[in-house]
Amino acid sequence: MAISRPADPAKAYEGIKKMKKDIKLLDYLAVRRSVPAFQMCEPGPDKAEIESILTLAVRVPDHGKLAPWRFIVYRGDERATIGEELLKMALEKNPDLSEEMIKVERTRFTRAPVVIGVVSTAAPHVKIPEWEQVMSAGAVCLNLLMAANAHGYVSNWLTEWFAFDERAYPLLGVKPGEKVAGFIHIGSTEFPIVERPRPALEDVVSWRGGND
Ligand SMILES: Cc1cc2nc3c(=O)[nH]c(=O)nc-3n(C[C@H](O)[C@H](O)[C@H](O)COP(=O)(O)O)c2cc1C
Repeated sequence: MAISRPADPAKAYEGIKKMKKDIKLLDYLAVRRSVPAFQMCEPGPDKAEIESILTLAVRVPDHGKLAPWRFIVYRGDERATIGEELLKMALEKNPDLSEEMIKVERTRFTRAPVVIGVVSTAAPHVKIPEWEQVMSAGAVCLNLLMAANAHGYVSNWLTEWFAFDERAYPLLGVKPGEKVAGFIHIGSTEFPIVERPRPALEDVVSWRGGND
């Protein structure tokens, strides 16, 4: 079945924001897009909706049924507290931060109403390669983006410097030995959702066999 681009993309992207009402899966996949966290606003999902989103998000391929990932949900005032602490760490690294960057650091976790950390707990295993466990955490991240969309919210998968700076891990609740797969930002937006370039299939697909 050929999937065609929507005749009116702007209308189709609006469908993402209203997905829980009327968008079909094929139509959704044809236009699925992230919305940058800085373009997000209230409302975000409440606790019951977050639990519903996470219940969908964990339905990913997972070799060995190890569930080699976990979530940390950042909500409310805690987001501003984390931003202040990240700013302190950023200033320790570079005391000459511009006013603009001070604001960026301070608001890392307050751009979106809800931020969900996806933590990879991948570890050596007698049968399941660690690489497969790591990929399962990536699958969780994409599923989380889509489950948030399915609840009528926009979403964005970010990592940023503190995902790779272990000094930030105690602040963020990440335990020693764990890795951050992503911080999934979830909220609403007043901005139009626009297309971004996608790779041409011939650049990323090799065909082997087949006669048609
Ligand atoms: C693992 C991962 C980490 C990312 N981290 C960042 C980031 O730190 N900052 C950023 O601007 N974009 C980051 N991105 C890209 C954003 O998610 C981007 O908005 C998104 O890929 C847009 O594509 P989409 O609309 O097809 O989802 C990351 C993507 C992935 C897969």
